[in-house]
Amino acid sequence: MNSPLKLTGLTKSYGGTLVVDGLDLELAPGRCHGLLGPNGAGKTTTLRLALGLIGADAGTVELLGHILPEQGGQARARVGVVPQMDNLDPDFTVRENLLTYARYFGIAKREMAERIPTLLEFAGLAGKADAPIATLSGGMKRRLTLARALVNDPDLVILDEPTTGLDPQARHLIWQGLRRLMGQGKTLLLTTHFMEEAERLCDAISVMDHGRVIVQGSPRDLIGTHIEPHVVEIYGDGLAEWQACASRHCRRCEAAGETLFCYTEAPEQVVAELAAHPGLRYLHRPANLEDVFLKLTGRDLRD
Ligand SMILES: Nc1ncnc2c1ncn2[C@@H]1O[C@H](COP(=O)(O)OP(=O)(O)OP(=O)(O)O)[C@@H](O)[C@H]1O
Ligand SMILES: [Mg+2]
Repeated sequence: MNSPLKLTGLTKSYGGTLVVDGLDLELAPGRCHGLLGPNGAGKTTTLRLALGLIGADAGTVELLGHILPEQGGQARARVGVVPQMDNLDPDFTVRENLLTYARYFGIAKREMAERIPTLLEFAGLAGKADAPIATLSGGMKRRLTLARALVNDPDLVILDEPTTGLDPQARHLIWQGLRRLMGQGKTLLLTTHFMEEAERLCDAISVMDHGRVIVQGSPRDLIGTHIEPHVVEIYGDGLAEWQACASRHCRRCEAAGETLFCYTEAPEQVVAELAAHPGLRYLHRPANLEDVFLKLTGRDLRD
């Protein structure tokens, strides 16, 4: 099967600044692909280029077998979109928002009326069909935007930070729903700042920085390739003195705020050494995608 989305040499500048810089990306059908990167890395711009909502300066976009921008309309008819910022119509109810959106796709009102309960259930909004948008909480609006993205039963769903602002219960509900979509053969392209979300949902991940993909692979491969298997997070009284000789015990150490992250193959040695320093507290855990992300993109704030 062909790739649902293929980006080649995609380039976009704003005011002389390269925001997307010769980016290549190819999605595998039926899989979830994660696009990670710090604030301002160019993720949302890449998604907007992929959808043909903005034009590229150079490069090509092939979306569901259609070449953009010429065949954008045909392609977008088979795509669901969750934008980074909710753009629901505040004057309408939940049901009216879904019906209005469905009209763009030429879906009959009667057909939609039948599907609305399923869509609302997906988003944990059963019973809210007649609620005005103004009465929904921020998280409920986010979930409605997710339900709206499925109105046209899309083959590809593009989700820009879908679970930002959701509570843990809602996030788990959405993860379950997204996995169900994959089970139906749909392809997902997702940006997120929640590394746990990326690790759980994504088959493949591209880490972006400064408009370029800097690494790509499965979450497990990225962790295995870029990070020592164990991390001991150390904080508390006497950290500065301990830090001075930490390189004896850890392969790699990184300080962030009041915490020292000690990356190692042999955590037992580090933990045994820490026993002699009762003022220090520590957390020993396996390395995760967040460690990879921070190593590759740095710990400094972006904007
Ligand atoms: N319409 C625009 N005009 C000018 N600059 C823009 C425009 N859209 C985006 N940018 C700039 O492009 C860069 C990338 O923005 P983008 O929104 O793609 O980042 P992002 O990776 O989605 O970040 P975040 O994680 O904060 O959502 C930023 O420096 C941003 O200021
Ligand atoms: Mg963004």
